[in-house]
Amino acid sequence: MFCEGARVIATDLPNLLGNLQYNVSRNTKMKCKHQPEVKELSWGIDLEKNFPRSSNHFDYILATDVVYSHPFLDELLTTFDHLCKDTTIILWVMKFRLDKENKFVDRFQELFEMEEISNFPSLNIKLYKAMKKKR
Ligand SMILES: C[S@@+](CC[C@H](N)C(=O)[O-])C[C@H]1O[C@@H](n2cnc3c(N)ncnc32)[C@H](O)[C@@H]1O
Repeated sequence: MFCEGARVIATDLPNLLGNLQYNVSRNTKMKCKHQPEVKELSWGIDLEKNFPRSSNHFDYILATDVVYSHPFLDELLTTFDHLCKDTTIILWVMKFRLDKENKFVDRFQELFEMEEISNFPSLNIKLYKAMKKKR
């Protein structure tokens, strides 16, 4: 985790925050200017309450392997949309598994301009850079 001088928030579901806090502490101890904040985020839920648009201006959103066989893809898309300003850059690592989940890329592209930055064909993994489309 690179957090020298940056304010970083690591998120996960409420029941996983203990594990996340442990991992963040282990990986950042003595390596960070500012200790990353660990915070609850359930995709699509209480977004404005927990991450008000007026006070959150993220430069980057890092998302790795968040698209797989789970029933919250709509909520995930809503969350990306909520957290992004016009200038926010999303760096998103996608592992391609099943057709149904892979279609998320098309839906994502309706809201975001995206560019492929890296491709690891033997692993079915791509890294994308994305920004909100001008609406
Ligand atoms: C496959 S893991 C990837 C974890 C990590 N980003 C990585 O690449 O190692 C998917 C992550 O998404 C989280 N997740 C799944 N459903 C979620 C939801 N509805 N809201 C928030 N986080 C969720 C899981 O708890 C888990 O941490």
